[in-house]
Amino acid sequence: MADPSSGVPLLDVNRDNRPLRDEFVEALTGVVDSGRFLFGPDVTSLESEIAAYCQVENAIGCASGSDALLLPLMALGIGPGDEVIVPSFTFFASVSCITRLGATPIFADICPDTFNVDPESIRGLITDRTRAIIPVHLFGQCAQIDRICQIAGDDDIPVIEDAAQAIGAAYHSRPAGSWGDVGCFSFYPTKNLGGMGDGGMMTTTSAGMADRLRLFAGHGMRPRYYHQVVGINSRLDTFQAAVLRVKLRHLADAVHNRQANADRYTRLLMEANLVAADQVVVPAVDKNAFHVWNQYSIRIGEGRRDALKAYLSERGIGSEIYYPVPMHQQECFNYLGVDPSTMVETERASREILNLPIFPSLTESEQHQVVKAIKGFYAAGAKAAA
Ligand SMILES: Cc1ncc(COP(=O)(O)O)c(C=O)c1O
Repeated sequence: MADPSSGVPLLDVNRDNRPLRDEFVEALTGVVDSGRFLFGPDVTSLESEIAAYCQVENAIGCASGSDALLLPLMALGIGPGDEVIVPSFTFFASVSCITRLGATPIFADICPDTFNVDPESIRGLITDRTRAIIPVHLFGQCAQIDRICQIAGDDDIPVIEDAAQAIGAAYHSRPAGSWGDVGCFSFYPTKNLGGMGDGGMMTTTSAGMADRLRLFAGHGMRPRYYHQVVGINSRLDTFQAAVLRVKLRHLADAVHNRQANADRYTRLLMEANLVAADQVVVPAVDKNAFHVWNQYSIRIGEGRRDALKAYLSERGIGSEIYYPVPMHQQECFNYLGVDPSTMVETERASREILNLPIFPSLTESEQHQVVKAIKGFYAAGAKAAA
């Protein structure tokens, strides 16, 4: 049980995993006894289960979400001279997969309400060098993927969905990872379907693409010791697959808890008058989206975000900034020389966003504690000003 005197962690993986311990031990014991640490039956079963879950024909395991993004670009033959459109407001891996291949990321701005990439921004960036678009379903909510696929389809540009944070999310009731040419998932422990280490998965309806993804993930080797292309070694190991199969069985419950936590935060923040007073902007839910709440992201304006984060931290309450430095401002991407006037909403989000604890086993009393502390921060500010 959570101890109310000990603050609120941003995330408590152990608390989420503890009730499943016996199931993990049984599944892992099965792997130990089988001796099939790579390409074991759990990997194949997980691939089938994720394919069914995402309503696609094929799912291919790989070593991480980062590889799940890199491999489709390799399979598409993307390289120097090619452009790939991607939001700047995302995790590094959405972009490094492009530059690693010598291609050029072209940064799109975001919609201020959802933090997701703006389809109109994408439309304006398409050139005859555009070889792919990578929309990111940030924080567990799908980008406007119907419009993005339509814009891409007009020019026959492949769409690679970065669904690392959004397994189980949907748009117009159609799952994340089933819209584009390839869907990319991460099983990093903080993700909604989090493993006990690294892991990733790619989904696709195309048998041909699935075949190329497997080829590139296996050293480009087919048959054994004959290399058709220069691939990489990217495998999901059987231990991870066994753990993930256990967690997949409980994913619907975990998502339900995240949704309940999000609804409760929004209600509590409104009841505390923080929203009406424009002190906190609560996250918007697109009416077409089934949001799975990997993150609950509030906005704190007027340059007070960092002070609030420090105030919460002093009281043992975890919060985090995803993301403090957008990709176009990263030192390693300076050479791209991006014009900041094209990134207005991205830069504002990185100054204002604050992510609160939202993990499935977060308790109601912990949420009250978080909201009370935010209220206390503003009350202290008002007192100091008086
Ligand atoms: C949006 C996004 N893309 C890609 C990744 C990369 O996933 P991984 O850490 O499994 O390589 C992550 C997570 O870390 C992510 O949040």
